[in-house]
Amino acid sequence: MPLEDGKYPSEPSLSSLTEHLICSEGEKEAVNMVEVSKHTLKKALIEGLVPIRELSRDAAIEMSFKPTPAYIARCKELEIAHSGRTFYDPKIRSLHPWLARRSRSVARALNLAALLPFDTNSDDFLSCLGFTRQNLLEAVSKGYPPLISYLSPNLSSTNIPENTVIMDPMAGGGSVPLESSILGVNTIACDYNPVAYLLLRGTVEFPAKYGLELWRRLVEEVKALLNYALKELSPYYDTQAEGYIMLRQVKSNGRTIPLQTLIPISKDLSVKIESNGSLSLTKNREKVVTKRALLRTWMEKHVEVMNGKSELYEQTHRCVAVQTHKGFRLPNDSDRELLLKAYMDYLSRLNSISIPTIDIPRDNEVFSDILPLSRYIMLFSPRQVLALDILLSYVRNRVQELVEKEGEFGAALGLYLSFGIDRIADFNSVITTWNHNTLTIRDSIGSYYKFRKFRLEGNYAEAIIPYRTLEWIYEPENNDRTAGGICPVLKELVEKLEDRECRIETYLCDAMNLSQYFKNIDIVNVDPPYYDQHIYSDFSEFFWPLLKTMLEPAIPLLFDKRVLIDWTPNSWTVPKSNEIIERKTSKGKFETRLKIALKEMSEVLKDDGLLIFWFSHKSMDAWRTVVQALSEARFSITSIIPLPSEHPTRSITRGGNAGINRVLIIVARKGLREINKAETLRRFKDYILQSKLYPGEVIPKEEIELLTKAANYALLKC
Ligand SMILES: C[S@@+](CC[C@H](N)C(=O)[O-])C[C@H]1O[C@@H](n2cnc3c(N)ncnc32)[C@H](O)[C@@H]1O
Repeated sequence: MPLEDGKYPSEPSLSSLTEHLICSEGEKEAVNMVEVSKHTLKKALIEGLVPIRELSRDAAIEMSFKPTPAYIARCKELEIAHSGRTFYDPKIRSLHPWLARRSRSVARALNLAALLPFDTNSDDFLSCLGFTRQNLLEAVSKGYPPLISYLSPNLSSTNIPENTVIMDPMAGGGSVPLESSILGVNTIACDYNPVAYLLLRGTVEFPAKYGLELWRRLVEEVKALLNYALKELSPYYDTQAEGYIMLRQVKSNGRTIPLQTLIPISKDLSVKIESNGSLSLTKNREKVVTKRALLRTWMEKHVEVMNGKSELYEQTHRCVAVQTHKGFRLPNDSDRELLLKAYMDYLSRLNSISIPTIDIPRDNEVFSDILPLSRYIMLFSPRQVLALDILLSYVRNRVQELVEKEGEFGAALGLYLSFGIDRIADFNSVITTWNHNTLTIRDSIGSYYKFRKFRLEGNYAEAIIPYRTLEWIYEPENNDRTAGGICPVLKELVEKLEDRECRIETYLCDAMNLSQYFKNIDIVNVDPPYYDQHIYSDFSEFFWPLLKTMLEPAIPLLFDKRVLIDWTPNSWTVPKSNEIIERKTSKGKFETRLKIALKEMSEVLKDDGLLIFWFSHKSMDAWRTVVQALSEARFSITSIIPLPSEHPTRSITRGGNAGINRVLIIVARKGLREINKAETLRRFKDYILQSKLYPGEVIPKEEIELLTKAANYALLKC
């Protein structure tokens, strides 16, 4: 909603108001503040009592990585029969990786609770969300998990004004705008990162705009891509293989040295590399170590191999095990020949390869351990490059044809195709490792999740792209079962969004510059970066070069008039200068930038608008920074709601002794308000005891203490 007349809503005048009286930090309880605003506070349900127990349970289950046992337990709790152990669970995270996607159920609940009146009772609220027995029975009978995000909301008894607007200025993977759109509310979604911006278009805007036809056409496009890949790539892979496990080796003083001498390939089987170089399968489970000191040499040798030094090829990239449907076997001559053929064909295309040969950005912390690879293309082995190049070239040509014939609709189809190729690259690079517990490839970003960096180990894995991986990534034929494919997710999205009549707008925009473009927003629902937790820009530079390459013909259509920052999609790197994160190398930036962003959010909100601000961190310093920013932007907190954000199986906010599994939802109004702070704190303390991940959970004392301290401090200051 760009500004029409350049006027902004006026700030409440503070001159006549009592100044803040409490600034001291610490454990002292907040007291009632009486500060009278000029504005009348129209309270919303989110500032009253929301059903924490139900929302917490739903959120915790939705966020778990291995959710089937949780779905079954939840069905039991709700006394709903389910058949078997398989659920149809097309999650938006399967569209494309993004960091810190939040629970859709929570996003929906917060959006709705901000729109409904203060006195709405919990049963009516849950029913509006779609959480009714009838809906749950219907969803589970169709195979869906018993989650709010899979139920259709029912707003027939509400009277949400038609022109209401919810904005998420840092929308990332899109949970908040997706759920506001599903509620049929006008939605503005922004992000500073081009990968996130494209994801927002693909997750919310295009499914709503193009409906089921988009999914039908994507299925056709995917089938054509799969046929092409089968034809072009089958000469390089064994039809019976399900995965290749590769060992890194280097030569030193005339001897070949493996970077790992034992590679676990399943829970009870390892490949042993004997001192004479021969391989054996063994039950031996000695401690596994990577000779990290040799990684730099390996990277240098790999670069030489990629540049054509063929005599080093087999030594540098050695296949040590092949996964088949029967289990594992040692590699044979035929596996060697396939690898050699791929290398030769890679070399023959060397001058026309479409994978970017750009330098790995030096300012990228996530890539800092693998800088000796020097160029982006070196993130892949020869066969991986060959396969990716064939797919990339196909998609780019297809995007060109689709855009010429069908304009933006064609660009949208190309976008989902390219999301899939990005996922292939994630599972098919030298940053992958073999996961012997799950018998699958641990993707490249798995390394980021573990170390906050891309890090090499002694082994990597190669996906069997034409026979297995592509099918799994897209799942074009799957309508009622999914293991994580793109087509089922798109189908789910178009079904939920197709007939929504609200406006949905997405922008590449800096949250520090909102008021130049927007005004009169009713609700800002924002989940900002959590201080130093993720480096979104650096992470996204694994994907952006590939997306840019494949989508080149569609770039004008995809970005036209939506870029509200000083950056062009012609750039190989993503914008970083205004990213609201704390880096080790430049302390204090999060604080200054968040302050500006919050002031901007206040500026674009209507006078009686509402801010919903998500945050979690285990350090009080991070909380102080955030509270300070809220206070300087003159927000008054009207409620604080703790909700699960992480499942214990995930490690994102963990660290030290006390992992934090809950996020605080800070609800605030513009300007100083008359707020009963003691009551708000009491409500928070009740809430936190109810925000359980599972009914029997004893919430760790340290977590309760830290979050209560943060809530208390926030109420003292704002
Ligand atoms: C915690 S994530 C949002 C996740 C999202 N709620 C979801 O469910 O997927 C924070 C987002 O803020 C974005 N961001 C960082 N700095 C920004 C800025 N200056 N303006 C707009 N977005 C920014 C990041 O790119 C990231 O996508």
